[in-house]
Amino acid sequence: MNKRTFLKTSSSALMAYQPMVEILHRLNKDHNKFSDVELSENEDYWAEIRKGYKLKPDYINLENGYYCFAPESTLSHFIDHVREVNYQGSYYMRTVQWENKDKAAHRLADLMGCSHDELIITRNTTESLDTIINGYVWKPGDEAVMAEQDYGSIVGQFKLMADRYGIVNKIISIPNHPRSDDELVDLYASAINEKTRLLMICHMVNITGQILPVRKICDMAHSKGVDVMVDGAHAIAHVNFDVTDLHCDYYGASLHKWLSTPLGAGLLYVKKDKIKYLWPTFASWNNNPEDIKKLNHTGTHPVHTDLAINDAVDYYIAMGRDKKESRLRYLQRYWTDQVRELNGIVINTPKDMFRSCGIANVGIANMKPAEMADTLLKRYGIWTVAIDGQGVQGCRITPNVYTSTKELDHFVQAVKEMSISKR
Ligand SMILES: Cc1ncc(COP(=O)(O)O)c(C=O)c1O
Repeated sequence: MNKRTFLKTSSSALMAYQPMVEILHRLNKDHNKFSDVELSENEDYWAEIRKGYKLKPDYINLENGYYCFAPESTLSHFIDHVREVNYQGSYYMRTVQWENKDKAAHRLADLMGCSHDELIITRNTTESLDTIINGYVWKPGDEAVMAEQDYGSIVGQFKLMADRYGIVNKIISIPNHPRSDDELVDLYASAINEKTRLLMICHMVNITGQILPVRKICDMAHSKGVDVMVDGAHAIAHVNFDVTDLHCDYYGASLHKWLSTPLGAGLLYVKKDKIKYLWPTFASWNNNPEDIKKLNHTGTHPVHTDLAINDAVDYYIAMGRDKKESRLRYLQRYWTDQVRELNGIVINTPKDMFRSCGIANVGIANMKPAEMADTLLKRYGIWTVAIDGQGVQGCRITPNVYTSTKELDHFVQAVKEMSISKR
């Protein structure tokens, strides 16, 4: 089979699962008189989306923050890709592997609103951001700024640089309920001095779901000559944005979270004029210092995952980016609004609409987060994750597009009962 025939075969395999994307198009056409916000409250519409998922009956899954497993259509495409690559063997690897990876990367760049030569596919956020941290030429005494609420494995990479090169890490703590953007901008600004070279911020804090004013923090940092690296693990395919609007220098994300690709897919964006300063972690075939691909030497890897990125993007676009964001925000507000003001219940996520989307965190007075998560699972059949540290005590609640308000009613009832039992 030649290259052309293979590509044709792949696309005819794609056709076999076209119906889900077609169903989404039809669904949206049938509902086009409604705005995205109106549709976010339409349970009949979202019940159709739910049908596209295979859900375990054992529990209600409110822990999609770790990994948003794929809808059946994306999964079927992925399995087809695994079969096809296995069928082709090294022929695939020696012919269209790289061309196909580029195509998937270009689709992600289009989704992110950056140029094709500013984005590569990685395995996850950790690999993306650690590639940047490791790519700097650090001198003893150089400083980096980050928050206590940032993700541990990335903070760990900065610690490694401290041990290895003698850099100094300045760690601030983000309030769960900021009064204004300025408060957050000033907080980061207060940690910067003439030795600061890199500042890391989360687009969306993973333990609380708080969305940070990324652009304002980037503009402040740039005015002081500091680069900004954004941890976008939870933002891509959750909120709708263009990376260039954020004004950041680097952006890393995991695609197996809200884009719902199979496990082990991520992206790294590097602003064009920053690429030449970074050292690759692994020596590349590509020695052009200005080419982002120098950072992308992964060796032999699961190429079928690259192919499935296209399917996940198709699904997301067919659903509608704003539609998805509106639904996730609606679901969060649906349950937080019912418990936020109750005695003995603490919401660790800001109330302002634009400071959060689908993720929120709730604690119960006199109840440790681990006990709360355990009770939710054993007594109420609800799967969540306990967060106990970094200024946050509670369970992180992450619904997905398949979550129904009926499931959230059950969760709200559980939280109320647990809180009453602890008074
Ligand atoms: C904010 C944040 N950054 C980074 C990561 C790491 O993601 P991955 O394990 O996909 O690299 C996570 C994972 O949950 C996260 O929440």
